[in-house]
Amino acid sequence: MSKRSLTQRAIIFQSHGDPSQVLSAKTLPDLQPPPPSSLAVRFALSPINPSDINVIQGIYPSQPHVRTSKEVGLDEYYIPGNEGLGIVEEVGSSVSEFSEGDWVIMKRSQAGTWASAAILDPKDVIRIPRKPNSSKLTEAHAATLTVNPPTAWGMLTKFIELKEGDWVVQNGANSAVGQAVIQIAKRRGLQTLNFVRNRPNFVELKEQLSSIGATQVFTYDDLSDKATKQKIKEVTAGKEIRLGLNCVGGKETSLMATLLGKDAHLVSYGAMSKQPLSLPTSLFIFKNLTSHGYWQSRWYQDCSPQERDAMFNDILDMIEDGSVRSPLKWRIKIDGFRLVISPRTRNLEVDWR
Ligand SMILES: NC(=O)c1ccc[n+]([C@@H]2O[C@H](COP(=O)([O-])OP(=O)(O)OC[C@H]3O[C@@H](n4cnc5c(N)ncnc54)[C@H](OP(=O)(O)O)[C@@H]3O)[C@@H](O)[C@H]2O)c1
Repeated sequence: MSKRSLTQRAIIFQSHGDPSQVLSAKTLPDLQPPPPSSLAVRFALSPINPSDINVIQGIYPSQPHVRTSKEVGLDEYYIPGNEGLGIVEEVGSSVSEFSEGDWVIMKRSQAGTWASAAILDPKDVIRIPRKPNSSKLTEAHAATLTVNPPTAWGMLTKFIELKEGDWVVQNGANSAVGQAVIQIAKRRGLQTLNFVRNRPNFVELKEQLSSIGATQVFTYDDLSDKATKQKIKEVTAGKEIRLGLNCVGGKETSLMATLLGKDAHLVSYGAMSKQPLSLPTSLFIFKNLTSHGYWQSRWYQDCSPQERDAMFNDILDMIEDGSVRSPLKWRIKIDGFRLVISPRTRNLEVDWR
């Protein structure tokens, strides 16, 4: 077995703040071959999620651990990045359950995936099984498997038992989570009412979301329109909507909640508008609405390994049968610079503007 060191480049921050001000790209000391009980992993793809930005801003509950690299003059720094696809480059001599070339995703949150490579504890990763031939599982799927599809899966599974033909309403429907909701719901025979912000190319977006399985797509402006409410009654044939998913908060969600029927559940998982959520009291009194929060990290902490594996297997099956496609965001634009995860070189690149 080879014993080689790995070059290590990473995006780092030393103090919290605006990502455009505090992030920088560094070459760190080469990683030495893994100790006996560790794995050397090269990150093939490391996506950027909104929560990564919140981590850097210092407003997210989980944070990466502090690191030191005196050789390059760094006393205290952090490598952000919560999810990513690692390819096992080398296996420590006492590790038997992994092999070179295995695909792994992170079990430990905030593992620091915005780096070219890392030495990891096998306990902190999960091997992704790949069908030997003709697997539909791409690197992009695997790199984004930890957060968004499981969040969609969890929200569609954990709060209410939905039957084929039932309706789910959601906002932020074009987000990565929203797209996973559409696809998983469609696969289960559920119907979705999807709301997005208005935009000049709304028709194009509507077509895109319809092509992945959205039943109906509207804008938030439509929520104040009586004709839309009437149309929704018609398309749902009066069937009560019992699950609402909230990505954005604010008045869009207050209005969306009025579409919910009796004994419905409103599940909030994001706050993209940064506006507080206020709900009409009448929904609680007369419709017995229940309002929940959902955090995938908490689910990972609370679930058993068997539950977690069952969830991943279900999602992997949906990827293999073509029902779940990947909406990987390759880049994020932050004022001042662009952080690019290059599909060509599969390395992190910082494009300073
Ligand atoms: N609770 C959990 O466990 C969990 C798990 C995964 C994600 N999340 C959260 O879910 C949200 C979506 O994540 P994602 O990765 O799916 O995001 P994403 O793909 O980057 O999509 C972001 C979404 O937010 C919308 N948006 C952005 N700014 C907005 C604003 N000011 N007002 C209204 N909508 C706005 C975007 O709509 P436009 O196209 O109109 O800009 C888009 O629909 C984030 O808040 C994320 O932190 C939570």
